[in-house]
Amino acid sequence: MNRLIVISNRVMLPSLNNKESAGGLGVAIEESLKRNGGVWFGWSGEISNDKKIEPEVLKNDNVTYVTLKLSPENYENFYNGYSNASLWPLLHYRLDLVEYSKKKYSGYQRVNSIFSDLISPFLLKEDIIWVQDYHFILLARELRKKKCTNKMGFFLHVPWPSKEVLMTLPDHKEIVESLLDYDVIGFQTKSYVLSFLDYIIREMNGTIDSDGFVFAKGKKVKVQHFPISIDTEKFIELSKNAVGSAHVNRLVESLGKSNLIIGVDRLDYSKGIINRFKAYENLLEKYPEHKRNSTLMQIAPISRGDVWQYKELRQELETEAGHINGLYSDFDWTPIRYLNRGFNRKILAGFFRRSQIGLVTPFRDGMNLVAKEYVAAQDPSNPGVLILSQFAGAAEELDGAIIVNPYDIEAITEAINISLKMSSEEKLHRWIRMIEQINEFDIHKWSKNCIKAIESITV
Ligand code: G6P
Repeated sequence: MNRLIVISNRVMLPSLNNKESAGGLGVAIEESLKRNGGVWFGWSGEISNDKKIEPEVLKNDNVTYVTLKLSPENYENFYNGYSNASLWPLLHYRLDLVEYSKKKYSGYQRVNSIFSDLISPFLLKEDIIWVQDYHFILLARELRKKKCTNKMGFFLHVPWPSKEVLMTLPDHKEIVESLLDYDVIGFQTKSYVLSFLDYIIREMNGTIDSDGFVFAKGKKVKVQHFPISIDTEKFIELSKNAVGSAHVNRLVESLGKSNLIIGVDRLDYSKGIINRFKAYENLLEKYPEHKRNSTLMQIAPISRGDVWQYKELRQELETEAGHINGLYSDFDWTPIRYLNRGFNRKILAGFFRRSQIGLVTPFRDGMNLVAKEYVAAQDPSNPGVLILSQFAGAAEELDGAIIVNPYDIEAITEAINISLKMSSEEKLHRWIRMIEQINEFDIHKWSKNCIKAIESITV
């Protein structure tokens, strides 16, 4: 059986003893690596001023973990720069926030090349290579330059934008051509596949066959959608075990009779948190019966705090939450609880289960696993309602949610009002459709399908 080589910017090291706080993706990748043995490469999360940066190699059973520190310059230009200030906003349709420079792109090229140097000596002929996310689009090209003939797959965890949006990026041609050096390109949804094919056909004069193969620039690549999911069984278990836990008890006590509306996101402008706050303010204004009877709890741990776009967002949200609380709070009730900190997954599962509404309204999101976690965590005898953005990949699967346009603040307001008044029968009916979907398609199926697609390529 073939070994697996995974490359992702973040690596889940085995030293993470508390597997309860590990995300489903990390666990699924680790599980795939353990199946036939393999190596997981990525950034250590640290910065080093050393002239020559040596990788750290760690072995655990049949899996090797190889992590590398970034130099300050690479951290600035590769991570903060091209990955998170150029590609991230572009892929999430925020052209107003895209910051581009040749220097950033050079940093991105350089780090992709550094990783190809790092990986090459570890490679065996039959290894299967599986690259994760937008940080490493150029990796296949860099490895092919070094005569690597291994089967290689790429999975993009974020949206793939329309051709018009993509073409605002000065390097769009090189980015797409580099992707063609993979054997399989995986996207989250059918829509992202279609956007990619549109570019291939209209910009590259490429063709597509009925098996999903793309022919362009002399290359043949399989392009397919593989909707990512969660470890459904595990998350259901976590949410059951959280019932009666100290954190959940404290939450329940603090809420009194108030209905809880919950949002959980990295503090990112793609998540649409600002419109969520505004919609909730609208609700209190338009439907005063929900005053004191409802609370919006937004959990938003700080993310990419060195990037200016994120600093600005943080200020904006603090101002908005402060404004709403100043206007509507009473001495014994606060409408918005806004927390810039994270919680472990068991606590989150317990919070989701206690919430009447899961409010997931990103402006753009590759998939959004919080939506799926919210569904998994519900009590089958009394499930809550999921309000979901039409621009989250998850909306293609979770049709039991109330689907909203996240730019339409009034529509979010109405959706919250309807949800707070919804009958138990309708809630149950909607929830069953969604839980069936995520029971069938979980993260284990996702990883197996991705790897199978790479394995079955004939070269
Ligand atoms: C998104 C990306 C991931 C990334 C994560 C956290 O989910 O798709 O690749 O790891 O955000 O962001 P960070 O910059 O902290 O790694």
